[in-house]
Amino acid sequence: MTSRTQVGIVGAGPAGLMLGQLLHLQGIDSVILENRSRQYVVERVRAGVLEQGTVDLMREVGVAERLAREGLRHDGIYLAFGGARHRIDMAELTGGRAITIYGQNEVVHDLIEARLTTGRPLHFELEDVSVHGLESQAPSIRFRTNGAANELTCDIIAGCDGFHGICRPSIPASQLRLYERVYPFGWLGILAEAAPSSHELVYSLHEHGFALFSMRSPQVTRLYLQCAPDEDVSQWSDDRIWAELGARLATDDGWRPNEGTILQKGVTGMRSFVAEPMRFGRLFLAGDAAHIVPPTGAKGLNLAMADVYRLAGALAELYKSGNEKRLDCYSERALARTWRAQRFSWWMTSMLHRSDSDNPFDHRRQLAELEYLVSSRAAMTSLAESYTGAPFDA
Ligand code: FAD
Ligand code: DHB
Repeated sequence: MTSRTQVGIVGAGPAGLMLGQLLHLQGIDSVILENRSRQYVVERVRAGVLEQGTVDLMREVGVAERLAREGLRHDGIYLAFGGARHRIDMAELTGGRAITIYGQNEVVHDLIEARLTTGRPLHFELEDVSVHGLESQAPSIRFRTNGAANELTCDIIAGCDGFHGICRPSIPASQLRLYERVYPFGWLGILAEAAPSSHELVYSLHEHGFALFSMRSPQVTRLYLQCAPDEDVSQWSDDRIWAELGARLATDDGWRPNEGTILQKGVTGMRSFVAEPMRFGRLFLAGDAAHIVPPTGAKGLNLAMADVYRLAGALAELYKSGNEKRLDCYSERALARTWRAQRFSWWMTSMLHRSDSDNPFDHRRQLAELEYLVSSRAAMTSLAESYTGAPFDA
């Protein structure tokens, strides 16, 4: 089977689905191709912090009805160390910018519903997806459905297939520059049936390492513990997890997370990664396909959204006037935002995690940095600006 579209989108994660929605609103045809099942994509628990720009974008493209109802707006966050919690009032420091807690899987759910409403193609469970003719005017995507071979010819291919996808590896190695830092720790994350005991997130540095208190709803808490990158989850009984979360998060004023049934456990590795440029011929990379940040800054999902907003604007111009100027700037402009987020995510990670190679000097330096941060309006403003994120620009 052969078919044709304007933009072939590989991957139905947040980047691919949002790009499809943005193109739809411009009257541009696309086909979204995903190798996993719909259920897998919707149930995958990942990020939870939406920047103001992501919330605004969801609203702009008409997929924010449930987000407006169920999303939890947070004006501040807490940093905890030395037995005390310190609040950073992000909204006050940034002229009203805030974050919203809404699970990535809910974002994906809402974008899939919107896609289905448009009637435009979205295919799951495809096999052997590959991209071809990237330097030609008619690149193509080949894949199998139920064993049958298909080829989709496109004007443009958007590689939105995440870090382990096939688009980035299809670019000749000589055409890419890769930057990478792998951290010597990971996060053990849990979802628990427990009412959040704090209205806002708590990022904590303890002598045992980092811990994070977050949430998904008024009934569900999301918590993370710094662990080894290859930590064996089976070594972590529920009792051990709660004891360690209590030790790392509890503060001298008696605050600690509420406990409850653990619904889900998983370990995530931590890396910083950038591939430059984010383009090869008619293939454009967006989101995790081009860059990964350690999760401490809560930037991964938001960067993916900023990328596709920019890419959709450039494609709209291409189809309206034949002008490729914005497409030609896409990689450079997207990388500028990416590197700012890399800097912030690396800084938050190194300030809040303990590494085996650290010595007592490093620990005191981390505490001095945190103490400075929570006592300086300038330093808190800097954190708040980066954490809430700059407005998206096309
Ligand atoms: P993805 O969400 O990875 O979507 C890519 C899609 O492409 C997937 O659906 C995938 O199945 C599909 N795909 C892959 N290969 C192919 C192929 N060959 N053919 C077709 N489709 C393909 N960020 C945070 O800010 N906080 C967090 O707590 C956090 N936790 C995370 C936990 C994990 C385990 C991971 C992997 C990431 C986490 N992130 C977190 C990062 C955040 O989730 C990502 O930045 C975000 O998902 C990026 O969206 P994306 O659409 O670019 O990529
Ligand atoms: C969550 C994830 C993050 O990476 C983060 O920095 C804050 C919150 C979360 O899953 O809720």
